[in-house]
Amino acid sequence: MKILVLTGAGISAESGVPTFRGSDGLWEGHRVEQVATPEAFHQNPELVHKFYNMRRRKLLEESIKPNAAHIALAEFEGRHQGEFLLVTQNIDDLHQRAGSRNVLPMHGELLKARCGLTGEVFDWRDDLGIDTPHPSEPDLIGALRPHIVWFGEMPMGLERIASFAQDCDLFIAIGTSAVVYPAAGIVQSTPATCRRVEINLDDTPQSDKFDITIRGKASIEVPKFLNSLATPGHRP
Ligand code: OAD
Repeated sequence: MKILVLTGAGISAESGVPTFRGSDGLWEGHRVEQVATPEAFHQNPELVHKFYNMRRRKLLEESIKPNAAHIALAEFEGRHQGEFLLVTQNIDDLHQRAGSRNVLPMHGELLKARCGLTGEVFDWRDDLGIDTPHPSEPDLIGALRPHIVWFGEMPMGLERIASFAQDCDLFIAIGTSAVVYPAAGIVQSTPATCRRVEINLDDTPQSDKFDITIRGKASIEVPKFLNSLATPGHRP
């Protein structure tokens, strides 16, 4: 069985990483255009760096750990015989920390920095700033940016996602509000024969595209659902 999983901020909420769409529509007090667009970075790089520095520091706090949903996905992948791809919209590294191997972070990674001039990508755990030197060219100052996909930029790995989705047998969307494209459209690029399962606290605009909708917390519902797949003769 070929399985495609898509995760969003809801899977990391119980690990202490805030989701994006709070009831006030703000991301930690900022409008999206202020901090998550190339224009914002051009106009006010200090503010954008500060926003992602805060999030990077938070992600590296000791209390932030993978939860039962991340762990269940990693364990499931470890014992699954067929193809498996975990596409995440999350920029945290909790899937990787849980032990997932085939992870595609389509919106980038908070613990990486990219040179805006050469496109080189570096592992990065410190703050970034307008005065940060390029790791291999110390005279080049301020060329680094967070390795994050901002609004108006192309998500990563779209070809791989499309080619995997087109003949997958099971698609599971977990903890995503399904309002940001192209991620929200992946469900519709799966074939008619594919079983589509949505695990989320709330209904989403895409819920009617799924065969099964499970409402509840990811840490409870993801392990439960994946365990049910292991039951002989069970069809999701
Ligand atoms: P959102 O914050 O939009 O949605 C999180 C979803 O998770 C909501 O539908 C919640 O109901 C649900 N949820 C919250 N806690 C949950 C829990 N414990 N268990 C299960 N579900 C839970 O996050 P995303 O859909 O990931 O993109 O947002 C998509 C993209 O929007 C992000 O990747 C980001 C943002 O703009 C970029 O930065 C490019």
